[in-house]
Amino acid sequence: MNHSLPCPIRLHELSEETIETLNHLCLDGLMNPQYLQSELPMVKIIDFINIDSTNKFLKMMPPQQTPILCYSESQTMGRGRLGRYWNSPFGQNLYFSLSWAFNCDIQKLQGLSLCVGLALAQALEDYTGLFSFQVKWPNDIVVDSHKLAGILIEISASSAHQTQVIIGIGLNVNSNPKDMQFIERAWSSLQQITQYPHLRQKILIVIIQKLTKYLKQFEQHGWSSFMEAWRLKDALYYKKVKIQQHELQLEGIAIGVDEQGRLILQDNLYTRLVDVGDATLSI
Ligand code: BTN
Repeated sequence: MNHSLPCPIRLHELSEETIETLNHLCLDGLMNPQYLQSELPMVKIIDFINIDSTNKFLKMMPPQQTPILCYSESQTMGRGRLGRYWNSPFGQNLYFSLSWAFNCDIQKLQGLSLCVGLALAQALEDYTGLFSFQVKWPNDIVVDSHKLAGILIEISASSAHQTQVIIGIGLNVNSNPKDMQFIERAWSSLQQITQYPHLRQKILIVIIQKLTKYLKQFEQHGWSSFMEAWRLKDALYYKKVKIQQHELQLEGIAIGVDEQGRLILQDNLYTRLVDVGDATLSI
């Protein structure tokens, strides 16, 4: 489907006939940018039907003070963490990026990616009323160890006074298992968890409201103001984990995170502070 759509293409560039056809291809219909804009006046919305990557699009824009939300119904080259690919089939899930200007230098943003994960888990809890959403360090959203959402944070510009950050989120909503069969990791979707399909634009609104609130708190009080909330949603807390860092593999018990958002890993000999890597539970 992604490859038969022009790229990039926006909703207003399509004929009514094409919109009608595409509408029927989504369980919940196409998302409506005017409706989203009216519900989210604090961000400027840029919609796409298809694009290579919403993160890449915002990264190429000149720095902006106003937050910009860019979403797409599909991506042809969705980007994941550690150079991975993010599968983005048409009209099933949420793929969006938020550009946010912090009035500080990059050093002050330690813990930001964890804060975004926490906002997303909290938004999903508020939306569904379920308490099953956890954050796996640094910021995967998991339910029973199955990945539900991923976050990719990129810096598009930085100086001593300002850092422009692109926060990209991919959330599995009404995923069709046929389109997910090449995903190597155990995955889940909101539809699988609740057993019914969801209106993606409703979820997007809840997430952006929560995320902008958390980002403002982060700006004012930093990561330390979220550490207690993290503890309650930490999927690795007191679990035996493996951390893959390129060629290096670390193993130990995860005992939380520090003031800089680093994972605290304990083995028989050492306590290590891990700042990058991919965590998996050891069996
Ligand atoms: C991960 O590897 O877990 C992070 C995945 C992030 C995917 C999202 S989808 C919207 C945004 N645009 C991209 O190209 N990537 C992010």
